Amino acid sequence: MSTNTTSTTMTNPELIPEKAGGNLTALSPPTTALTEVENISLNPLFQPDLLEHLAQTIIQELQRHDLGASRAKGLSPDRDDLVPSTPATSPAAVGERPTVPFAVPLATPSFYFIEELETKIPDLPAVVAKPGQLVQVPGIDPLFVPQASGRSVQRPSFFDVHTIRQDFPILQERVNGKPLIWFDNAATTQKPQAVIDRLVHFYSHENSNVHRAAHELAARSTDAYEAARETVRRFLNASSANEIIFVRGTTEGINLVAKSWGQQTLQAGDEIVLTHLEHHANIVPWQQLAAQTGAKLRVVPVDDHGQILLAEYQQLLNSRTKLVAFSHVSNALGTITPAKQIIDLAHRVGAKVLLDGAQSVSHIPIDVQQLGCDWFVFSGHKVFGPTGIGVLYGQEDLLNATVPWQSGGNMIVDVTFERTVYQAAPTRFEAGTGNIADAVGLGTALDYVQQIGLTTIANYEHELLEYATAGLATIPGLRLIGTAADKAAVLSFVLEGFDVEFIGQALNREGIAVRAGHHCAQPILRRFGLEATVRPSLAFYNTKAEVDALVAALERLQHE
Ligand SMILES: Cc1ncc(COP(=O)(O)O)c(C=O)c1O
Repeated sequence: MSTNTTSTTMTNPELIPEKAGGNLTALSPPTTALTEVENISLNPLFQPDLLEHLAQTIIQELQRHDLGASRAKGLSPDRDDLVPSTPATSPAAVGERPTVPFAVPLATPSFYFIEELETKIPDLPAVVAKPGQLVQVPGIDPLFVPQASGRSVQRPSFFDVHTIRQDFPILQERVNGKPLIWFDNAATTQKPQAVIDRLVHFYSHENSNVHRAAHELAARSTDAYEAARETVRRFLNASSANEIIFVRGTTEGINLVAKSWGQQTLQAGDEIVLTHLEHHANIVPWQQLAAQTGAKLRVVPVDDHGQILLAEYQQLLNSRTKLVAFSHVSNALGTITPAKQIIDLAHRVGAKVLLDGAQSVSHIPIDVQQLGCDWFVFSGHKVFGPTGIGVLYGQEDLLNATVPWQSGGNMIVDVTFERTVYQAAPTRFEAGTGNIADAVGLGTALDYVQQIGLTTIANYEHELLEYATAGLATIPGLRLIGTAADKAAVLSFVLEGFDVEFIGQALNREGIAVRAGHHCAQPILRRFGLEATVRPSLAFYNTKAEVDALVAALERLQHE
């Protein structure tokens, strides 16, 4: 078997297994296809196009023999355990010139369509189909998640922030002639190239509406969408993909629960417990619900460090408590709340619990089964994914017992003018056409984060937080707001003699992006006697040098 025969005759470097990092001689199967290439290349009449076609067949053979596109691409061997086995490409794709990066498999439809179901009509029970379920096709891993773009997500054996930074093109930007320092991560995070590429790939090769069509692209997009759902399931350790509902973000997820379960369940006199730390997104929907149902809001106080007063919380709980809704991490102060304890105490009085994970997903490993929360919500854009996509996790029985909040196409099994039969979760909560591409991009973002590892991220960020806390402590007149013992990488502060907006603008002139304002958390800032703070918030791609630049800029401000 000669590898030269293939590599010398192919025009597209993507098609050259050696260039792609593969080592054909090390691979045993599939001999048939390789022999064919050898024979043809020895024939003086051979045609490069035909050879290219055969090379494509080889690639597909390699994939079918589960040799792993990632290995052919030359991804670091220590990643292989993280790259699921690659499915065979569809017969329709055989012979087509690949226009996608080598490691992106052409999707094989493994998920089929519900059109037929819609014609099987009467007397279906209220919950029938399980659209979130992936169909097992022999030889195809139903849990396969397409690797973002073929671009390797390097997983350093130790955490190397400089390598990580190369994955984020925007970090090369200059602002006001200075290198961008992105310290506004609590507002939104930057996106790795893998996520950007995944979106491009989706729109270039997979774009279609999902679930309802008998054509190849619908199957590709459905596979990609449902694979993303499975990725979210794994990320949260939910017990079923049916528990993962794609929404617009945390705000929409909370509204969904308030306007479906809340309106269905709450009555006058019932109580909803929130904490003083909440973002407006976890206050206003409950306030509206209370106004509509006659339920009452109860607020758990915090101490002067911004920590939940658990004893006070316990006193607020009683048989009227129907819901406890709270943040896992405070966006304004960085406090990490004792989520497991809060959840367990709520369950003892029979209350349901919604955990707002907007600020925790990118910093703390999440296990919804271990936490035991009834709902968990987060936004994709805060965990290195696209905007306009987020997730509501809910326990499956609870979701299926809850009336949908929006209705229309996609969420039904059957419609007559007399009545409608709803789908089971998750589809019953995904009325209309969802944000398919960004859901797929979110899946890639979560894969990216998991490849680095949330424990690694948490450790690095903790070190950075301690470094930044010490640095800010050297600035005379700087008051840090939020000094909980257990904190994520948020550093809210005010500086004596300076308006917060002025500080924000001054830092912007140095290329440093921070948030200056009330952070949509007015109640907690007022608890500390403030209307606004400056809020640098860190992520794993930030460095100590950037923290030094922030501290130096604040020092300069004081001497101007
Ligand atoms: C704790 C918390 N909850 C909810 C939200 C709302 O998130 P989104 O605007 O992505 O819906 C945020 C956003 O900053 C937040 O920090």
